[in-house]
Amino acid sequence: MKYVLICFFTIACIFTTANLNAQTTIYQNPEASIDERVEDLLRRMTVYEKIGQMTQLNISMINTTGAASDVVLDEEKARYLIRNHHIGSFINGDAVPPETWFTFIYELSRVGLEESRLEIPVIYGIDHIHGASYLAESTIFPHNINLGATFNPIHAYATGWVTAYESVDIGHRWGFAPTIDLGVNPLWARIWETYGEDPHLASEMGRNFIEGYQGNEEIAPYRVAATGKHFVAYSDPRTGWDRTPVQLSMQAIREFHLPPFQAAVDAGIKTMMLNSGEVNGIPVHASYEFVTELLRDEMGFDGVVLTDWADIEKLVDLHRTAENYKEAVYQSVTAGIDVSMTPLDLNFNTALKELVDEGRITEERLDESVRRILRLKFELGLFEYPFPRSDRLYRIGTEENRLKALEAARESIVLLRNENDVLPAKEPNLIVVAGMSANSKRNLNGGWTLTWAGGTEEQYPEDMHTIYTALQKEYPAAEIRLIASELRSSANRDLLDSADLIIYAGGEEPYAEFTGNVTDLTLPSDQLSDVAFLSESETPLVLVLVLGRPRIITPIVEKTDAIIFTGLPGFEGGEAIANIISGRVNPSGRLPISYPMYTGHFSTYNHKPSAISSSALYPFGHGLSYTEFDYSDLQLGSHSVGMNESLTASVTVTNSGEVTGMESVLWYITNHVGRISRPVLELKHFEKIELEPGESTRLEFELVPQKHISYPDRYGNRILEPGRITVRVGDLSKEFMLVE
Ligand code: GLC
Repeated sequence: MKYVLICFFTIACIFTTANLNAQTTIYQNPEASIDERVEDLLRRMTVYEKIGQMTQLNISMINTTGAASDVVLDEEKARYLIRNHHIGSFINGDAVPPETWFTFIYELSRVGLEESRLEIPVIYGIDHIHGASYLAESTIFPHNINLGATFNPIHAYATGWVTAYESVDIGHRWGFAPTIDLGVNPLWARIWETYGEDPHLASEMGRNFIEGYQGNEEIAPYRVAATGKHFVAYSDPRTGWDRTPVQLSMQAIREFHLPPFQAAVDAGIKTMMLNSGEVNGIPVHASYEFVTELLRDEMGFDGVVLTDWADIEKLVDLHRTAENYKEAVYQSVTAGIDVSMTPLDLNFNTALKELVDEGRITEERLDESVRRILRLKFELGLFEYPFPRSDRLYRIGTEENRLKALEAARESIVLLRNENDVLPAKEPNLIVVAGMSANSKRNLNGGWTLTWAGGTEEQYPEDMHTIYTALQKEYPAAEIRLIASELRSSANRDLLDSADLIIYAGGEEPYAEFTGNVTDLTLPSDQLSDVAFLSESETPLVLVLVLGRPRIITPIVEKTDAIIFTGLPGFEGGEAIANIISGRVNPSGRLPISYPMYTGHFSTYNHKPSAISSSALYPFGHGLSYTEFDYSDLQLGSHSVGMNESLTASVTVTNSGEVTGMESVLWYITNHVGRISRPVLELKHFEKIELEPGESTRLEFELVPQKHISYPDRYGNRILEPGRITVRVGDLSKEFMLVE
C-alpha cells in the first residue's frame, strides 16, 4: 500500500509540476495582469519563501565589515541569506558615490535572482528624507519643517520628484518618506521631520511629496514606493522624548493626526511604516485596531505595512507587552504587519515559521502579506527591471535640481522680527558673523543627511556654502569677518562697534530620533550669553536660528534687532539665508509651528478654548516680509449656508509696499460651538501668490461645510452642527450661519 501511495504522490507531483511548468510563464509574463502574476507566483512558494519575503534586513548583514556605513557587498553573506532564508528586502547605507551604490545594488540584485528558486527580485529601502540623503553628489532639499514653512506644496512635490529622479537608477526603489506625523510638540526630537502642527498643511505637503515621488514619469520604466510614516500619533509623547508613551483620545487622533495619513492613502501611497511607540497603552506594532481595523478596513489602505526598526523585538524589551520574541511576532503579524524591519538577525523568520508550524499563524495569513509584497514588486517593475542602471547617473545633482532646492530653501526661511527694518542690509562695508552655525554645513542639514545623525563637516560637498561663505559671495564688495572663537573677548569690541551688521547664527547641532531628546527647550545658555554680549554693541544684531525645533529665545528677543528662523534649509540653505539678508530674496516663509514663549507652556494655534491661549512668542502662520500686504473686501457668498451647500468666500490682497513679494494667503474658520469642543482656529485652505508693488488680486475659497466644518467623533462618525461660523483671512473676518 505504501508503495502505491508513493507512486501516486510521485505521479501527482510530476503532473502538478508539469502543469505549473506549463504555466510557469504566468508570473514571469509581463502581459499577464498583476493579480494573475501574484497568484501564480504565490501558489509556487513554500512557507519559508513567503516568510523570507516578509523579512527586511540591514545592509550590515550583507556587507564586508558589518558596519552600517559600508556599501560593499559580501556576496557570500548575501547568497547565504537569500538561498537559505529567501530574504526579500534590505535597507540603509551611507552617502557613497552613485557608482558605488550602483555596483552594490547590481551585485545584490544578481545574487538575489541567482539564489531565489523562483527568481523573485529583492527590493532595497532607504531613508531618502529630503532628497537622496544617502547618496553623495545628490541634491539635498530643506527638511519637511521648512517645506511646511513655504506654505507652497510645489516644493514638497519637487522634493519627491527630484528624490526619485536621482535615486531610482542606482536601485533605491523604496523610499522611507514622507514623514506625515504632526509637529505638535516642540520638545520632540523629530518635529523637524514633520510639515508642522496643522493637519491640512501636513496633508497637502505629504500628498504633493507622494505625487512627485511615486508619480515621476521621467524614471520610467522604473517605479518607486513612498512610505507614509509613522502610523499613527507618534509625535506627541507626553514626556517630549522620542518613542515614549502617547496618551491621546481616539477623537483627537481622528481629528488631528489621521488626516495626513488619509490624504496619503487617497494619493495612492504604496507603503506605510508604523509608529514605534505605544498609544493609549497599546504599542502600534501590536495593535490590530490601528493596523488592520483603522488603517486597512476603515481608511482603505491596501499597500504594504512595514515595521519600524526592530520594533517587534521592542514589544518584549521595551513595551513588555510580549513575554518573548515569538509572542511578539505573533502579536505583530496578527495586528497586520507585512514586512518586519527585523533588521539584524533571523529571529523573525524562525519564530514565524514555528508559529505557522504550530498553526497559530495560518499560511493564509502569510499569503495576505506576501500578496501585498509581490504586488509592490510587480508594480515597481522589479520583475522586468530588477537591476539598477548606470546610463543616467548624470541626473544626480544637476544644476536644475539644485535650483529647485534653492528655491524651496529661499521660500522656507521665516523672518520673525525686523525692528526698524534693519533688514535687508544694503551695501554694508563690514559684517561680523559669529555663532556655532555661522560656518557650519552640517548644522544647515540636521539629521538624515549623509548619515543617520548628520555626518561630519568634511563629508559635506566642498562647494556647499555655509552662511559665512554665502555672505562673502552675496556681498563681494564688503568685508565679512568671522569670529570663530573667543567671541566674548574685549578684543572684539572695536570690531563689533565698527561693523554695519552683526549676524549671530546659533541653533542646534544635528541629531536624529532619541539622540535629540532634551530636558530643556531653552536655547543653550552659551548662545544666550553670546547674544547678550553682542547686543552691548550699538551695531544692529541679527539672530539666525539654524535648528530643528523652536528653542526658547524669549530672554534675548528684545536684545536683537532681527530674528530669522531658518529651520534646516539643506545644502542650499546658506545661500538662501544670505539672499534674504541682502534683500535679493524677499522672505515669504511662515511658521508651520507655534513658536513657544515659555519652557513650561506649549500649545498649538488650533488649541481648544479652555486652553485659554497659545502663549506663543510667534504664532503659527507668522512671517514678515520686506513689503506690506493689505487684505480688503472680504465677501461671503451668503450669510447662511445649508449643511449640504457650499459658500464662496473672496478677498482682495494688495501689495502696498515697495518691493515684489510672495504672500501665503491662509484661510481659517472658527466654529464657535460644538458638542465636542472646537479649536479656536482651523486652517482650511491656503495658496501662495506673488504680487508686484501696487498689484492686487482677488482670491476665492469654496467652503464646503461637510468637508471644512464637520469633524469626527471617537468612532469616525462625522459631526456637523448648525451654528455660527467665522471665516478669517489676513486681518479680516466675517461670520455666517450654518443652518439645518
Ligand atoms: C528609524 C526611523 C524611521 C526610519 C527607519 C529606517 O528608526 O524611525 O523613520 O525610516 O528607522 O532607517
